[in-house]
Amino acid sequence: MNAKIAKIVAKKGVMPVSELTAYDYPTARLLDESGVDMILVGDSLGMVMLGYPDTTHVTLEHMLHHGAAVVRAAKNAVVVLDMPIHTYDTPEQALATAQALMAIGADAVKLEGGVDKEEHIRTIVQAGIPVQAHIGLLPQKVKEEGGFRMKGKTDEEAAAIMRDMEAVVRAGAFSVVIECTKHSVAAEITKACPIVTIGIGAGRGTCDGEVAVIHDLVGAFPWFVPGFARPKANVADAIREAVATWQQEIEKPQ
Ligand code: KIV
Repeated sequence: MNAKIAKIVAKKGVMPVSELTAYDYPTARLLDESGVDMILVGDSLGMVMLGYPDTTHVTLEHMLHHGAAVVRAAKNAVVVLDMPIHTYDTPEQALATAQALMAIGADAVKLEGGVDKEEHIRTIVQAGIPVQAHIGLLPQKVKEEGGFRMKGKTDEEAAAIMRDMEAVVRAGAFSVVIECTKHSVAAEITKACPIVTIGIGAGRGTCDGEVAVIHDLVGAFPWFVPGFARPKANVADAIREAVATWQQEIEKPQ
């Protein structure tokens, strides 16, 4: 295991792990300089950067283009690149995609799924590539499931998520994102899980760390804000105000 990933792994039960998304050079550089542990080039880029309704429109080309910019910016943070839908349908395809993402300088890759992706993750890990898994709500399945819906509300669903966690651990993932589950389910999984769990929409303090989409954190995508977001700035209004001030200036030159 390389030293950067080992540092994340060593934080389990010791220090919370921070992970934020970035899709471009300046944002990634600011996050890196702020000391964020991990920068995720998530396929959420399809929604917040490219204006698609969900993540299913994202291609490997998109990830390579945005991922390379983030890699150029990040000096300390672990850079995780998401694997887009239908780029890991088989273990062989998963490995080829992971290798393409690592070739531009990623530190790790992320993919969605648990029991159904155990073999895919194992194949990537056995090739020496660190994998962050992603269980609970899977945005790439949102179309087939008919929308974004909290997971783990029934005992059967909670047990299935637990089995997904066990599968990704067996496969050798170094970390697992738990998205939008009932908070008690995320807490139970974290307790039982030997690898770092990273929550999003899964309750505060329930996981070993948290991940957030940078646009949600800084208020840069005002047209859709998930209910669980905790914005710390209002970049959309700052841009609107700067543009209005500038427009007034050019309309009334001194
Ligand atoms: O694509 C993404 O940004 C993600 C996070 C929400 C975990 O997968």
